[in-house]
Amino acid sequence: MVRNLEPLHGKSHRILVTGAAGFIGSHTVDRLLREGHEVLGIDNLSTGRRQNLAAALDSSRFQFVVRDLLDPGVMDYLAGGFQPDSIIHLAGLVSVSLGQRAPQENFRLNIEATKVVAESARVHGVPRVVFASTAAVYGDSQALPLDEQTNKEPKSNYGTAKLMSELFLLGYARSYGMSCICCRYFNVFGPRQDPGSPYSGVISIFVDRFLQGRQATIFGDGGQSRDFVSVYDIARGNALAATRPDVPSGAYNLCTGQSIRLLDVVDLLEREFPFVPAVKFAEERSGDIRHSRGNPKRAYATLGFEAEYPFDLAMRDLLASRRQAQKPLVPADVA
Ligand code: UD1
Repeated sequence: MVRNLEPLHGKSHRILVTGAAGFIGSHTVDRLLREGHEVLGIDNLSTGRRQNLAAALDSSRFQFVVRDLLDPGVMDYLAGGFQPDSIIHLAGLVSVSLGQRAPQENFRLNIEATKVVAESARVHGVPRVVFASTAAVYGDSQALPLDEQTNKEPKSNYGTAKLMSELFLLGYARSYGMSCICCRYFNVFGPRQDPGSPYSGVISIFVDRFLQGRQATIFGDGGQSRDFVSVYDIARGNALAATRPDVPSGAYNLCTGQSIRLLDVVDLLEREFPFVPAVKFAEERSGDIRHSRGNPKRAYATLGFEAEYPFDLAMRDLLASRRQAQKPLVPADVA
């Protein structure tokens, strides 16, 4: 029996977050705790980092479990014991290009894991599942801005797996009466996005390179464009998706509605760091799409979500936080 999405305990919701120690996961946890909710996070720490949860771990309303959700019985145990009002399922493989190199791992992490989450929600009567979907489901559609009805012809294994997960969850929603909100994130950026991996987001990689005075590489001609959205906006969107009553099951773009070319990102960084070697160009990546820009209207009308953080300001904040993290620690008596 699925419960209604009425918080079990007064006004605060109980929310289970998978991938809680990751980039989007940890910001989502922080946001939920700030809003007064009780949060249970799970992460296998394969790409997530405990350090991302430093603030959250100080909260008495946060519990954290280091396990792989694909291990038999784990999700069942957590959903059964915690009795969440919603599950926000963020765990997964996050890179389009990694999904091309490792298709089986992509399908395991981006489809099998969804099935496990959906089934644990069904068995334990969880009213709502929020799913981390992606703009990559639209493939190279020319119908910009992309609205949720646009044809979905993913160009990558990653986009395909996310679309299959959406269909699977929405089928569960119709069959079993739970609600499933699939948030199609556009290009998310901000603090805690791991710059060390070649599979990280382009802004994270470029900011890191420029800060270190190293040359960045553009795959393709740099004319490709993206709808870059701040992780703080995405965390707020996830919180709305998990807690707002009466949101119909379906897919919602979480985006700004604006697009920015990679060459413009580089321009901005070159102005900030005039002495870094000029970017080099390499072959376009397999599975890459050319232009991506979302239509944010549906998310605004139904979820009440609107991206609020302007790109330039979010970039400045990201630079400031990376510079802060880079500062060498000088003992007080030497400084
Ligand atoms: C990104 C997300 C994906 C999300 C999708 C939604 C990451 C890692 N991937 O995929 O999770 O679902 O947006 O639209 O955040 N590039 C370079 N140089 C680099 C790295 C990348 O030129 O060093 C290029 C890529 O080839 C691509 C563009 O930058 O053309 C964006 O790449 P990336 O940040 O990996 O994002 P998406 O592939 O759009």
